[in-house]
Amino acid sequence: MVKVLGGRMNVTTIAIAAMMVVVGVGAGFWIASEPEIPMLTSAVRQKPVFDVNQKLIEHGAQLVALGDCAVCHSVTGGQLFAGGLKLDTPFGAIYSTNITPDDETGIGTWSPDAFMRAMRRGVSRDGHLLYPAFPYQHFTRTSDADIADIYAYLMSRPPVHAVAPANHIIFPLNIRPLIAGWNVLFLKLGEVAADVAQSNQWNRGRYLVEGLGHCGACHSPLSILGAEKKGHAYAGGSIDGWDAPALTKLSAAPVPWTQAQLVDYLHTGLASEHSAAAGPMRPVSRELADAPLADVEAMAGYLMSLQTPGSPVAMPSVSPVVPTALAGAQVLFAGACAACHETGAPMSTIGNRPSLAQSTSINADSPNNTIRMMLDGNGWQASEAAHFMPAFADTLTDTQIAELANYLRARYSPHAPWTSLDDQAVAKVRKETPTP
Ligand code: HEC
Ligand code: HEC
Ligand code: HEC
Repeated sequence: MVKVLGGRMNVTTIAIAAMMVVVGVGAGFWIASEPEIPMLTSAVRQKPVFDVNQKLIEHGAQLVALGDCAVCHSVTGGQLFAGGLKLDTPFGAIYSTNITPDDETGIGTWSPDAFMRAMRRGVSRDGHLLYPAFPYQHFTRTSDADIADIYAYLMSRPPVHAVAPANHIIFPLNIRPLIAGWNVLFLKLGEVAADVAQSNQWNRGRYLVEGLGHCGACHSPLSILGAEKKGHAYAGGSIDGWDAPALTKLSAAPVPWTQAQLVDYLHTGLASEHSAAAGPMRPVSRELADAPLADVEAMAGYLMSLQTPGSPVAMPSVSPVVPTALAGAQVLFAGACAACHETGAPMSTIGNRPSLAQSTSINADSPNNTIRMMLDGNGWQASEAAHFMPAFADTLTDTQIAELANYLRARYSPHAPWTSLDDQAVAKVRKETPTP
């Protein structure tokens, strides 16, 4: 389950939805009538298009990893790319569709042109408009050649017969042609021209971060209509109750990020000087593990170039003094957390785990990710034991989690303690957990 386009529905949403109707009706309807692209017949499908060579398919697999296609188009325990994942948006629930080459329920009858149009303009083969929960506003930046390789790869997968559940989207946004209004306002079509003043690596990094990587979908603040706010790219966003930190302030972290640390984080999901990728970032880093190292390096290089000037927050010295009010939390920490997190504890040395003092979450202005981490933990993946943290949602009460968060901040980031969080603050974050 994934929740996109963070935020709650409110009066403004409805007012703006109404506005969308106007825009949609005015600008939309007839632009919206995209033609159907004829189905491929089985005779055509034997032809050269499908006689793609293994190299293209392998390249396609890497691109699919960069684009997280499997993350959104698969459900836990389900078949890869068969769709059915629920995405919660402020406008209702949208389900990802089947992108295996099944003729009836997938994209088996899609021509390369139909696929290209979907990736570039968010239009399905039969002409209906797709919701921007499918990040075509990013994928449109991808080159023709790369889209062709993604197509080759997906078409080489085993077909799976699976129909996605019906969406539950509020009126009037459940009328798909209205998406044309959104596209008129927010969709900038096509590739971005290379910036000749920059290196090839920088251009490659930008191409991937803005395009297939769709990093801004989570890391940029969104407007009430779910579009990225102009002029605030990568300034921080939210997703499923997690904060996606700003990617423009990485060099102002207590330990300023280096390009090498970013590469570690993106490629292995763990930067020993910072933290492990958890929550919605975990699957992104797991996919990037399959991307070529050179591409991940290019992305990291591009991110480094986005840093806004500013001096790093001083690395807080771990406070030995714990306020007496937090004595209870200290006991909880000793029992539930210290084996992994206390300096020098045996488990803290596994895989070179970072100190909590270096954690983005604990040093952040908002306690959301610290609370989320305690609630959700970081799931077990056999090959990544160093990333594992158990979930405490069922074993700790909201009050205990609030006290632990206060304790962590007082101890590991004493420069600016959170004004005492209480159980209400935790209950609020807990509620953000998407419902199955
Ligand atoms: C953030 C989640 C997300 C990611 C990542 C994502 N998709 Fe999707 N995709 C969706 C959703 C949701 C839909 C259905 C949209 C709708 O029904 O309006 C969709 C629809 C599609 C469709 C249209 C299928 C149809 O039957 O109309 C294609 C093709 C597609 N995705 C391909 C891809 C590819 C290729 C990638 C990776 C490069 C990808 N998607 C990554 C969420 C995602
Ligand atoms: C589905 C949403 C999502 C997408 C897509 C996504 N991220 Fe993230 N990212 C997050 C969240 C949430 C966190 C915080 C995770 C945590 O605290 O463990 C995060 C954390 C990070 C961090 C650590 C920041 C810090 O200060 O600690 C970096 C770096 C990062 N992401 C880079 C990227 C890049 C590069 C991309 C694109 C390839 C990307 N992310 C795509 C949600 C996302
Ligand atoms: C089995 C070992 C283990 C236990 C027990 C454990 N943790 Fe963790 N914790 C981890 C690992 C591994 C990480 C990811 C590496 C990192 O970010 O420090 C992590 C990360 C965190 C983070 C996020 C740091 C960041 O910025 O990403 C917080 C906050 C946290 N733990 C708090 C706690 C608290 C509070 C407890 C006790 C209630 C606890 N942990 C128990 C292993 C553990």
